[in-house]
Amino acid sequence: MCGIIGVVQKRGVVAPFLHQALKRLEYRGYDSVGVTTISDNKLYVKKDQGKIDEVHRRLNLDEMPGSMGIGHTRWATHGPPSMLNSHPHFDCHNEIAVVHNGVIDNFMELRLELSKKGHKLNSETDTEVIPHMLEDYMKEGLSLAEALKEVSKRIEGTYAIVAMSTKDNGKIVCTRDGNPLVIGTKSGVSYVSSDIPAFLPMTNDMILLLDGEIASLTTDEIRIEKLSDGSSVERDTIKISWTADQAQKSGYPHFMLKEIHEQPEAIRNTLRLRPETIKEAAEIIKSSERVYIIAMGTSGHAAIAGRHMFASLAGILPSFELASDFSDTVYDALSDKDCIIAITQSGETTDTISAVKFAKEFSTKIVAITNVVGSSITRLADHTVITQAGPEIGVAATKTFMVQLTSLALIALALSELTGFKDTATIQGKLESLQKMPELVSNVISRNEEKARRLASLFYDKPSLLFLGRGISMATAEEGALKLKEIAYNHAEAYSAGESKHGPIALVQDGYPVIFVAPNDDTRKRIIGNIMEMKARGATIISVIQKNDNDMSSIADHTFTIPSDVEPEFSIMPYVVPLQLFSYYMALRKGYDPDKPRNLAKSVTVL
Ligand code: AGP
Ligand code: GLU
Repeated sequence: MCGIIGVVQKRGVVAPFLHQALKRLEYRGYDSVGVTTISDNKLYVKKDQGKIDEVHRRLNLDEMPGSMGIGHTRWATHGPPSMLNSHPHFDCHNEIAVVHNGVIDNFMELRLELSKKGHKLNSETDTEVIPHMLEDYMKEGLSLAEALKEVSKRIEGTYAIVAMSTKDNGKIVCTRDGNPLVIGTKSGVSYVSSDIPAFLPMTNDMILLLDGEIASLTTDEIRIEKLSDGSSVERDTIKISWTADQAQKSGYPHFMLKEIHEQPEAIRNTLRLRPETIKEAAEIIKSSERVYIIAMGTSGHAAIAGRHMFASLAGILPSFELASDFSDTVYDALSDKDCIIAITQSGETTDTISAVKFAKEFSTKIVAITNVVGSSITRLADHTVITQAGPEIGVAATKTFMVQLTSLALIALALSELTGFKDTATIQGKLESLQKMPELVSNVISRNEEKARRLASLFYDKPSLLFLGRGISMATAEEGALKLKEIAYNHAEAYSAGESKHGPIALVQDGYPVIFVAPNDDTRKRIIGNIMEMKARGATIISVIQKNDNDMSSIADHTFTIPSDVEPEFSIMPYVVPLQLFSYYMALRKGYDPDKPRNLAKSVTVL
């Protein structure tokens, strides 16, 4: 949540770059934006509530002097979106500027203490205590970096902080604990940001900053120290394989639509993961007594699907737990003989990171599945599988979901080989079918996109929709409902079709839309029964079915079709695609921006 950028360059005006970098980070938070630069030893600031384009129209973010600056796009936690609550925040003399991502838990007592000392705080944010505390320490003669070290000893919570000061000009300092910050480097320029796409057009060279470290950036040097003992840290530069183009819309009206269309390629690239990486994940799972899969949101739906894949292909049924509730559900039922599969596209979701940290107290093995190299989860995990979706900018996850499913399918097949649950020929057959998935998903997109647009114009004003499926299609239904809620704001609920008659069916009356995920697998016959029950109560039936399934299409009012047979364990991959498209066109039909749904942010870094 919230995007941070900081740049210090030798010459030239930095403001237009800061503006563009914030645009690339806008998916992280978009209720306010602000930029501060330093020129002639003076701080310049422009900030306000609203999306970046709106604020830019009012204030012209490109016109600010100076070759160093910091910027922020906010996802409010403390204080509503407003000009005063927008970042950067300043000390009493406008000499120190700070941007922050996260939450300072003990901000109330710190505020009180500062007010008693005579500081004037202007906002309702937790963040504002930081520049005022820096002010006090710098008054004692400390440099900005030394002052930030002292501040970090006093603040509690999770944070990524970037600061600069006219009193220590030419330098940006930053530190983190729990929230992401990455450093970008190029001759004569240093960057710090919450996420890689911010500086991707300028450099692919990145240096990680870890929790409990502080970095000082100048145009020529990046110095990293450990906060605990001040020792200096030597860290190699990592080359990022992502390209700047991948983080652009490339002619699509929205990132979400572009990312839906990129799914075939994302699957193809993930299928090319080194077999040893997949095998090692499978070996850890095989040698564990208890296996838990944990995740949140869409990644949770991949986890539920993964559970089905592991059970059906390898005879291992892991428990799925929401990461946010993991410690409250599992209590002490963990040991060094167990393993956790943690799925998080961003690698930064605080709920998931906290659950992993909890499990590590029991020395439980951690296998991570993430899309972001160097993200927090990769540093906690014993083994990481990096999915190959490239950067995903749309807040609603689509292609990262698809590659999570791809890697889970690969792990399930490797596990099947290890457990001997399926014979070699069966495993080979399933692998071949997985290899055809990019083409299948591509066909699904082309044959259903227009249909999705048409159905959206029929159903956009329905206040509530039900999504039903059985077995692995329950996860498909869950994901379809989540996408719709997230971006089109229709109330949507997913249930097991079996469960639907135990309560939810009471909602159904004439014209109530019920979406069935009905692949040609063992659930098909029972799903037909459930469709008939709904029809008998006047429901309008929209089904996602296999092409030429005449029985199914004869009992549906509308259908999305999947052109060919698919292995039952992988059906979620093609079957979820029409539901992604349906949500996208529902959002569009209602005039909403699907890339920036209200109240949401791409990576949720608060508990
Ligand atoms: C997906 O569309 C949502 N934005 C959200 O549910 C997301 O999947 C969840 O916050 C988990 O994110 P992660 O994969 O980065 O951990
Ligand atoms: N807690 C801070 C605020 O409410 C930072 C939020 C963010 O990460 O955007 O302003």
